Amino acid sequence: MLTVAVIGCGYWGPNLIRNFTQFPNVRMKVACDLNKERLRYISRLYPSVETTTDVDQIVADQEVDAALIATPVSTHHPIAMRFLEAGKHLLVEKPMAASVSEAEEMNHFAEERGLTLMAGHTFVYTAAVNKMKELITSGELGHIYYISTTRVNLGLFQEDINVVWDLAPHDVSILNYMLGSEPLTVSAQGQAYIQSGIEDVAFIHLEYPGDRRCSCTTTCRPRRRSGSTTRG
Ligand SMILES: NC(=O)c1ccc[n+]([C@@H]2O[C@H](COP(=O)([O-])OP(=O)(O)OC[C@H]3O[C@@H](n4cnc5c(N)ncnc54)[C@H](O)[C@@H]3O)[C@@H](O)[C@H]2O)c1
Repeated sequence: MLTVAVIGCGYWGPNLIRNFTQFPNVRMKVACDLNKERLRYISRLYPSVETTTDVDQIVADQEVDAALIATPVSTHHPIAMRFLEAGKHLLVEKPMAASVSEAEEMNHFAEERGLTLMAGHTFVYTAAVNKMKELITSGELGHIYYISTTRVNLGLFQEDINVVWDLAPHDVSILNYMLGSEPLTVSAQGQAYIQSGIEDVAFIHLEYPGDRRCSCTTTCRPRRRSGSTTRG
């Protein structure tokens, strides 16, 4: 039995709680948010889940084996390091951290202590992506010359990070997974149409081993920020 906690119960956190309350070998013990209204929402939906506004209470909880972090990206590294230092496994929502150096520190720390550290690259666990990977890996499609992706999902106009940092982790994680490698070169161009200095449209080109090229278009579109637990 794995006992877990979810930190951050805004838009995405409730989806994690919903899933982790359904696994037979998981005890979804406690949810944390600074916003008490979000905790009342979780209590109404999942009366058996404890709630708290205090992350450190969960860090100190000997019963909690793993934490799932779904707070804004600027908070991922400080919260994650507290859990890793306490010897707990982690799933951190994408983007895993606000900088490469933060992500490397988290990764290094987890590796040294034999802890699981996962990023919330949701799409590599979906049936469609796994079928595409199977078709590529089995050779049924032959050599892959290029892949073109367009991400036009409903993503918020974020106030702190641009669309590449916010949404491209999905595209890149799917491509890395399907092609079984990481890109050799990356170039990207973006444009900030809505908020000055924060790109909301980006065109990314990646070159993978085997002369395989990928082109990703990634954009933000308005969606309402609410208590709903709809699509990511
Ligand atoms: N995997 C996916 O497909 C997917 C989809 C949507 C969002 N996300 C990611 O999930 C994360 C959260 O996004 P969101 O849209 O739910 O944001 P959100 O702003 O709707 O929710 C974040 C919540 O965290 C709470 N919070 C902030 N700081 C906190 C702290 N120190 N301790 C406890 N709670 C705190 C806020 O009160 C808020 O309720 C982001 O990293 C985002 O990129 C992933």
